[in-house]
Amino acid sequence: MQEARKFILETFQNRYTCKGYDPEKRVADEDFMVIMEAGRLSPSSMGYEPWKFVLLNNQAIKEKIRPYSWGAEKSIDGASHFVLILARSNQDMRYDSEYIQYITKEIQQFPDDQIPARRDKFKNFQEKDFKLMESERALFDWTCKQTYIPFTNMLTAAAILGVDSTPIEGFDREEVEEILIKEGVYDPEHFRLSCMIAFGYKNRDHRPKTRRRMEEVLEVFD
Ligand SMILES: Cc1cc2nc3c(=O)[nH]c(=O)nc-3n(C[C@H](O)[C@H](O)[C@H](O)COP(=O)(O)O)c2cc1C
Repeated sequence: MQEARKFILETFQNRYTCKGYDPEKRVADEDFMVIMEAGRLSPSSMGYEPWKFVLLNNQAIKEKIRPYSWGAEKSIDGASHFVLILARSNQDMRYDSEYIQYITKEIQQFPDDQIPARRDKFKNFQEKDFKLMESERALFDWTCKQTYIPFTNMLTAAAILGVDSTPIEGFDREEVEEILIKEGVYDPEHFRLSCMIAFGYKNRDHRPKTRRRMEEVLEVFD
């Protein structure tokens, strides 16, 4: 138990945002796939997994998105793996969509007689509990929130494997999405761009970690 505690704390202490990659060093395929598994196995609200991961290897497309991706300027070149995290479209995330039906039936394998109850529960959650149907933005932002769960798990998995990473949301979504759609990277009927991560090995030292103290972050309310 003591060892597990030490391992967890060291992992989180050691993970940091990489601001410069060695272009000569590649993350091994086996490590990359373990990082992707950490994403795939991540939890999501009601288990709808509203994400897809795209490993962007195409140099020409990277060049095109670079001017609109200021948060990736120190990683898009040197990093050996550059991943786009897509969020499912609003059309797919509505309680009555084909995608939700597919997940409920084919992936989660709920029997037919339980499907209407699942749909009603999700409808109530979307319309009443979280008011996700009030605007297109509300639903999309909720879906994006889900994608930050695999995003975070990938960062932690990479840190455990000694792989450096950069979480990225420093980009102009409209501009980058326009390029990715035009280039056929994803179908806008089903996906939108949520965030990105670069993986690789650093070529410079990073700033020491700065965080607020635990007393400021954790409050016990009896
Ligand atoms: C959601 C999210 C988006 C971020 N976007 C960027 C980014 O676009 N570019 C970048 O260099 N760092 C980005 N960061 C890194 C943060 O600046 C960094 O996590 C924070 O300063 C703490 O430093 P640390 O990760 O080294 O502990 C992002 C982090 C998160 C969690």
